Amino acid sequence: MLTCASAFVCVSFGFVLIDPDQNKLRSAISSYVGLPTSHILCGAGSDESIDMLFRAFNPSGCFISSPTFSMYDFFGRINQTAVVDVPRGEPPAFALDTDGLISRIQNFSRPTAGAKMVCIASPNNPTGGVIARKELEQLLLCDPDVCVVVDEAYGEFMDRASDALELYRTGRYQNLVILRTFSKFAGLAGLRVGYLLAHPSLVEAMLQIKQPYNINVAADAAVRHCLSAGPPSTAAYSEH
Ligand SMILES: Cc1ncc(COP(=O)(O)O)c(C=O)c1O
Repeated sequence: MLTCASAFVCVSFGFVLIDPDQNKLRSAISSYVGLPTSHILCGAGSDESIDMLFRAFNPSGCFISSPTFSMYDFFGRINQTAVVDVPRGEPPAFALDTDGLISRIQNFSRPTAGAKMVCIASPNNPTGGVIARKELEQLLLCDPDVCVVVDEAYGEFMDRASDALELYRTGRYQNLVILRTFSKFAGLAGLRVGYLLAHPSLVEAMLQIKQPYNINVAADAAVRHCLSAGPPSTAAYSEH
């Protein structure tokens, strides 16, 4: 945000204590998304949230649909998780092969016991497609061990409300995780702040494994300032 510099002026960085529980930051995000802080956890960008999910779940398999954001594969590999790609359909639609994904998830022969994680970027990077509500519900219900991660890094640019967020709010799907970030719509990529929305038991588990001081004071101040100024309009982006 253009005005983040003014937030920095107010912070004396020298001896500022960092809150490992991210209380002020999670509370600001709670007002922004309209969900209790117990459902929210911040990472150093969504990248760290993805890594933390791998470490928290220790999934036996991670299911992705290429072309998509490269970090699911990256973190899957460095966390010794089998990454299964079920490619999208032909351009220009690059449609998700939901039936194919479900079949691979259900028939996955696991090298180890453990969850199966599906990572869907929606809107997808680089193809822009958004997962349909029906497809998302099919994935959420397809296997008792599946966790569905919907990465909404570009969520604020969608021209309609997020189905994933609406489904999340119903409380029906405890296996749904949503990723959001301040890197894109707020332009704060260099400060590294993202957050995930997940069932409080998962947030609690992740609080135990996250690095205590993963969000630095400058990033914390900038995000809270950005949110206090009201969410920025993304209209300017669509004019270009
Ligand atoms: C779909 C998607 N998810 C997550 C990220 C990473 O965002 P962050 O800067 O919050 O780590 C990106 C960055 O390009 C992205 O395209």
